Amino acid sequence: GAPRPRVTFLGTGYLGATYAICYAELGYDVLGYDVDVDKIAKLNAGEVPIHEPGLDELLKRNLAAGRLRFSTDIAETAEFGDVHFICVGTPQRADGLGADLTYVEASVSSLAQHLTRKALIVGKSTVPVGTAEWVEQLVGKHSAPDLGVEVAWSPEFLQEGFAVDDVLRPNRIVVGVKSEWANGMLYAAHKGVFDLAATEDREVPLVVTDFATAELVKVAANAFLATKISFINAMAEVCEVAGGDVTQLARAIGYDPRIGNRFLQAGLGFGGACLPKDIRAFQARAQELGAGEALRFLHEVDLINLRRRSRVLQLSADLLGRRYGPAGPDLTGTRIAVLGATFKPNTDDVRDAPALAVAALLGKAGADVRVYDPEGMENARRAMPELSYQPSMNEAVTGADLVCVLTEWADFRNADPVVLGELVAERRVVDGRNCLDSALWIQAGWEYRGMGRP
Ligand code: UDX
Repeated sequence: GAPRPRVTFLGTGYLGATYAICYAELGYDVLGYDVDVDKIAKLNAGEVPIHEPGLDELLKRNLAAGRLRFSTDIAETAEFGDVHFICVGTPQRADGLGADLTYVEASVSSLAQHLTRKALIVGKSTVPVGTAEWVEQLVGKHSAPDLGVEVAWSPEFLQEGFAVDDVLRPNRIVVGVKSEWANGMLYAAHKGVFDLAATEDREVPLVVTDFATAELVKVAANAFLATKISFINAMAEVCEVAGGDVTQLARAIGYDPRIGNRFLQAGLGFGGACLPKDIRAFQARAQELGAGEALRFLHEVDLINLRRRSRVLQLSADLLGRRYGPAGPDLTGTRIAVLGATFKPNTDDVRDAPALAVAALLGKAGADVRVYDPEGMENARRAMPELSYQPSMNEAVTGADLVCVLTEWADFRNADPVVLGELVAERRVVDGRNCLDSALWIQAGWEYRGMGRP
């Protein structure tokens, strides 16, 4: 077929590393760029910096095939690529409002300065709407005018744990473009994805739009998902006072295809590197644009989500027979096993993890907290060194007055309540993710409390 453009990915964090590796797998010649010398050395040595199923094998295979390389040299990167994808981080600003675009600015301006031929710069990082226009001005300022360097925007929708499949088999591709040339380049840069779909008898819908819409699609999708989770958690709150069971309620409303049964799992709420930060940045940007009122409900979405953490504290105090005063419960003298530290199962990511936040709150309330997580221990220890970590589930629960299951790992879902019952001091369990078979636990003599369940 037609020659494929050579592509680079600037920023080899979660997003950029996954994309670079998967694009090499699709047959593109790929260069990944980062300022982090250590990270680049590791990637070139075949070491994936993150925990993501399948990525390790793809990295090794494509390094060996010579389609993939990583570099800290921006001039080399500029020389290499026809299409440059910007995948650097856009963290929450220190003031908590909006996104910090420092890395976008740094990577785009140094790339633009080093370009020696026409190229397309494509933003992928999650950004406030309006950033693409600003990037275009930045490129105009820093690149030689006769080159005619262009800008486009193409958001990504990776879920941790499924990132490889989400890149190779996305459920849609969205591109924000201003010219036919950019449209054609981006089509060529996605052709590998369309070709793979064709061989598997699938179709990947392509949405071509303007800059603002492309930027908004990403935050709108995340705002919708966060809202869906907080909706069911709000129903859990009502169930708690009305005596209903939110798991049955979710199942019943989920059969309506207009509602759908996914993302209706009530529990400890959403965390991770995206949803919490994105809904806050989205509100801040809407406010700046004069549409603050339109997104005021996202503030409620955030509050509902954070209230789930206090709910676990409340259930813990109840089970331990401690009073819940205005300053929270006093849990001095109790020992609590916390099972789970990551923000969801099948990842080692503890960024904005509700489980770890609750573990810290239990510790602050005076409890002797023992944490265990199948994959997240190293990151958890770094993020919260003040907690005590145990090398196994059994060791974490030994002698505990209460067990809190806060991430729904299969290891915990499948744990035998009879065996664990022999190890604990008291058989009390808070199921923060509604992931345990409550009947089985109750039968084994446990006092059980779920989220939004009688
Ligand atoms: C999310 C989006 O799904 C993805 O499209 C976007 O690109 C990045 O953000 P991710 O952060 O990997 O992906 O996590 P996701 O699987 O969406 O889960 C987010 C959080 O919501 C987790 O903490 C999870 O435990 C929680 N969740 C999810 C619920 O509490 N209930 C649910 O029903 C679903």
